[in-house]
Amino acid sequence: MEPFSQKDLLDIKGLSKEQIITILESARHFKSVFTRSMKKLPTLRGKTVVTLFYEASTRTRTSFELAAKRLGADIINISVSTSSVTKGESLIDTVKTLSSYKADYIVMRHKSPMAPHLIARKMPVSVINGGDGNHSHPTQALLDAYTLYEQWNFDINAFQGKNIAIVGDIVHSRVARSNIHCLKKLGANVTVCGPLTLIPREMEKMGVEVTTDLDRILPKLDAINMLRVQFERHSAPDQPIDSLFPSTREYQTLFSLNEKRLRKAKPTLFVLHPGPINRGIEIDDIVADGERSLINTQVTNGVAVRMAVFYLFRPRVENYPETEEDFE
Ligand code: CP
Repeated sequence: MEPFSQKDLLDIKGLSKEQIITILESARHFKSVFTRSMKKLPTLRGKTVVTLFYEASTRTRTSFELAAKRLGADIINISVSTSSVTKGESLIDTVKTLSSYKADYIVMRHKSPMAPHLIARKMPVSVINGGDGNHSHPTQALLDAYTLYEQWNFDINAFQGKNIAIVGDIVHSRVARSNIHCLKKLGANVTVCGPLTLIPREMEKMGVEVTTDLDRILPKLDAINMLRVQFERHSAPDQPIDSLFPSTREYQTLFSLNEKRLRKAKPTLFVLHPGPINRGIEIDDIVADGERSLINTQVTNGVAVRMAVFYLFRPRVENYPETEEDFE
C-alpha cells in the first residue's frame, strides 16, 4: 500500500472512502503481526514521534505509544501537567521547542477545536489529531469502523445499509462527529439518540436520524455505540453536575444499555463504547463485560489502526524550518 499524499490526519471529513478502506486494510495487515512472537517492524526506524496531550487520556495516548514502538520509532511523551505549559508556555512556543528535535510526527490532543489544524499548517511534521475539543477524534472513528469490519468478516460492503446508533452525550462528543462521517462514508444508516439537551442542532444537517426513543430504534440496530456522559463538560462551577438532564436516574431509565433493554435487540447486535466508561450510567456492567461487547477488542484494534496511520501519513521533514523566520 502506498502512503497518502497528505501528511496529516486531522479529521475524517478530509478522507475519501477509498482512503478509509486503505487504512482499515492496512490495520488488518498490522494486526496480523500481534500474534507473532516478534511484534516489532522496522517501518519507522530512525523516526521520532512526540505525543502532546493537553487533555487526559489512557487509551489514545498509550496505543499511539505502543503503535510507534512496534514500528521501531523513538517516542517522546509530553505530559502537559508536568511540562512548561503549567508555567504559561503557549501552544505555538511548545511546538517550536519540539521542532528543534526535528520530530517526524506529533500526536496531539487539545481542548480547543482545530488546534491540531493550526500546528499542521505551520509545521512539516505529520500531525495526528488525538482529539480536539468536541470536533474530531479520527483514529477513534477508524478503530470503531475497523472493529465492525473485522466482525463482518472484512466485507466492506457489509456496512451498506447497516443500522448503527450512537447514543448519549452527542453534543460534547468528538467521537460521535467522527463516527458519523466515517460510517456514512462507508454506507451505514446512522441514528443519534439521547436527551435533546445533549443533541446539537447540526446533527440533522449531517444526514443522520435523530431520536430520543432508544427503545423504539433498538430492535432494528446492527451496532450501538454508547457514549460516556461527559459530566465534566456539563456544568458551570455553581451548577449541579447533571444540569443538562433532570437526574442521573432519569438518564439511566431512558438511555442506559442494561440487560433488560438488550433483550429487545437483535442477537447479532454489537455493542461498542470508546471508553472511559461510566459504569451503571450509560451502560451496565453485565452489558459492558458481556458477549456482545467489543469494548476490549476496540482497545486492541486501536494499536493496529494507529500503526496503519503512522505508515500511511508521512511527514515532509525535508522542509523542516531551520530558522525562526522559516517557522513563521
Ligand atoms: N476513547 C478515548 O479517547 O479514550 P482516552 O480518553 O482514554 O484516550
